[in-house]
Amino acid sequence: MRTPFIAANWKMNGTRAEVADMVAGFKQGIDTKNCQVAVFAPYVFLPQLESSLADSGIAWGAQNSHMEASGAFTGEISLGMLKEFGCTHVLTGHSERRTLFGETDDVVAAKTKAALDTGVTPVLCIGETLEEREQGITGDVCRRQLKAVLDAVGVDGFRKLVVAYEPVWAIGTGKTASPEQAQDVHADLRQYLAEADAGMAAAVQIVYGGSMKAANAPDLLSQRDIDGGLVGGASLKVDEFVGICEAASR
Ligand code: PGA
Repeated sequence: MRTPFIAANWKMNGTRAEVADMVAGFKQGIDTKNCQVAVFAPYVFLPQLESSLADSGIAWGAQNSHMEASGAFTGEISLGMLKEFGCTHVLTGHSERRTLFGETDDVVAAKTKAALDTGVTPVLCIGETLEEREQGITGDVCRRQLKAVLDAVGVDGFRKLVVAYEPVWAIGTGKTASPEQAQDVHADLRQYLAEADAGMAAAVQIVYGGSMKAANAPDLLSQRDIDGGLVGGASLKVDEFVGICEAASR
């Protein structure tokens, strides 16, 4: 039985006051007994999360990191630094990093490996664009993205990470993949990973992302191979995010 994992990806949103309100709402509304919960916040809010989420059962992390431990990388943040602020998780390969900031499969693999080496759990995001789906190459694209990381971190690495399947056409668009569409891809990815190691494939959490909200979460989360959600827009609304966590706990 895989434990559900629900994560908030706040992206580049929030003020100190809004973060305080969201955290208070999450702490009050979310029961982490049957569901792992994490919040991915902009770097500058991580100290605030460290002081307000400690002992809440809710984990926190960053949306990006550099792969090197230190050095002349102006503007970058290392995994060791994130750890110092209590981050247990980090996003890697989010489609916005891939498309807007030019992160290649190799860069994503290096960052995922660096996170594992530092003892931070990567949430590895993969997914196809609308064009790729229409060309019928969804499986090929997702397998290529997984393979780059599998080659870098091996089966053992995949025992310690979370995969987030996020069809790019569903992110921030209000267009959710249907539960069947998402389930098909999740099952295909698990099958692909089983070719490397059946035990790892059965255990790895594969969560769905792309316009998940409280209203569509129950149907998505009841699919056999969907183990949770990576939530963008709806994670900025306390009721929505709490509702998704409730659906996952059921
Ligand atoms: P969305 O974003 O829920 O706003 O579609 C999901 C994500 O980008 O992780």
